[in-house]
Amino acid sequence: MGIRCRSSMRLAGLTIVLGCVSPCFAGAASAVADEVTFTRDIAPILQRSCQHCHRPDSVAPMSFLTYEEVRPWARAMKTRTALRNKRGAMPPWFVEKDIGIQHFKDDPSLSEDEIAAIAVWADSGAPRGNPADLPPPRFVVGEDDGWRIGTPDLIIRSPEITVRATGADRWEPIGVVPTGLTQDRYVEAVEIREVNDIPKDSAGGTVGGRFVFHHLNYSSHVMEDEQPEAFTAETTTVWPVHEVGRNADIFPADAGRILAAGSVLNLETAHLHSNGRETKAHLEFAFKFHPVGYRPNVEWVRRFTGNGVDISIKPTLADQELHAYAVLQQHTKILTFEPHMHAPGIRMCLEAIWGASVQTLTCAGYDHNWVRSYVYADDAAPLLPEGTILHLIGYMDTTPANRNVADPRNWGGGGRRSVANMFIDLGEGLALSDAEFEREMGDRRKRLGLTKNDVVIGCPLCQVPFPSQAGAVAGP
Ligand code: HEC
Repeated sequence: MGIRCRSSMRLAGLTIVLGCVSPCFAGAASAVADEVTFTRDIAPILQRSCQHCHRPDSVAPMSFLTYEEVRPWARAMKTRTALRNKRGAMPPWFVEKDIGIQHFKDDPSLSEDEIAAIAVWADSGAPRGNPADLPPPRFVVGEDDGWRIGTPDLIIRSPEITVRATGADRWEPIGVVPTGLTQDRYVEAVEIREVNDIPKDSAGGTVGGRFVFHHLNYSSHVMEDEQPEAFTAETTTVWPVHEVGRNADIFPADAGRILAAGSVLNLETAHLHSNGRETKAHLEFAFKFHPVGYRPNVEWVRRFTGNGVDISIKPTLADQELHAYAVLQQHTKILTFEPHMHAPGIRMCLEAIWGASVQTLTCAGYDHNWVRSYVYADDAAPLLPEGTILHLIGYMDTTPANRNVADPRNWGGGGRRSVANMFIDLGEGLALSDAEFEREMGDRRKRLGLTKNDVVIGCPLCQVPFPSQAGAVAGP
């Protein structure tokens, strides 16, 4: 970082000299006549990182499938992608790239080269380029049903809700819906989307203007009685929360979650908000199943680290920090990091403290328009021994620089509304027995070829050979 380079390019007879902060986009730097073009350089970036949202009938208000659609947004793309992990960034993925674990599943974030390429392209008149360079389309309008998890095996629809044009936020149960399953099925992945009657072109520029469900907590139950109160823990599966802007949940292959025969979805608490226009909306729950006969062999756990009761957020003040600690009661493989704060939140970090080892696992920016869950790649997921202290740090900014804050003059305590505060990591994990924990670490050492001198972020005991595995670790 920090090297400056210049590149020039010829456009309509003019030679434009561009300065960019390194690492420069290699394509732009390599040759004078080598412009950054839509067809060759930009389209592949959009296909990988943008189009699943920016296409008709997905979450974004504008489609980026064709050059004609993309061209007017070139400058805005430069601005939004340059925000990297700050509020308003595109794609909305806020993991910091200079600290902590760097390997995640389904990571749409852009490299420095790609960010530079978009900037050079926008600054040079957003040229189309040679049509022959265009890669085959990733999405074809009308041919794709838009689910990130692939074609679902079961789609369940919630009752339709009407939310008034203006009014206070509502929290309420929205119904109990039968799954219709006649045999137990284990779920590999679940994805939820809101379907509403807000016209694309009349929605505001924010995610909140396009949706009325802020979030929904739900679970599935085997009906023993017609009353939701009769649901018992033994017959209940708790599912990850639905939140606006949240991604799909793909569970680890050995930790599928049961959706039982004869069960119902209990849509316990929906947080609904008005958006200036009377809106009818429902949710669709898409499940992908493991084959019949599949059985999971590890326990999936919802991890809650955080604090709510004594939050005190001062008005018009940057750099406010919140801290929370939790001691792991079991060996744990952390599958996901899911920062959850409200409007003042701008960043969250998760640390693991084991003896004298203090490691930052992940820091991510936060934009309350986007509640994201970051899923660690298999060989990067933290493997933490029982007794590890998880330390969560939240960063708040109530100055006007944080445009999510409605009124910087207000003090804020803990609470459910977005103008009040939360401070939680809603991540998911696997609870491991001693044997499972040792096996996971042994497998990781082998796959990554670790020696006893290699320190792996998130696996403080990885380089400690267990007696049962002595000899499994190569010496330096
Ligand atoms: C997870 C879904 C999602 C992804 C992925 C995504 N966007 Fe967006 N984008 C949105 C939504 C929703 C909005 C409207 C809300 C907003 O402006 O923040 C938006 C807005 C924008 C805007 C703002 C237009 C304006 O009003 O100025 C630009 C530019 C943009 N996106 C570019 C991109 C680019 C470039 C990528 C890929 C590198 C990308 N987006 C990836 C959902 C997404």
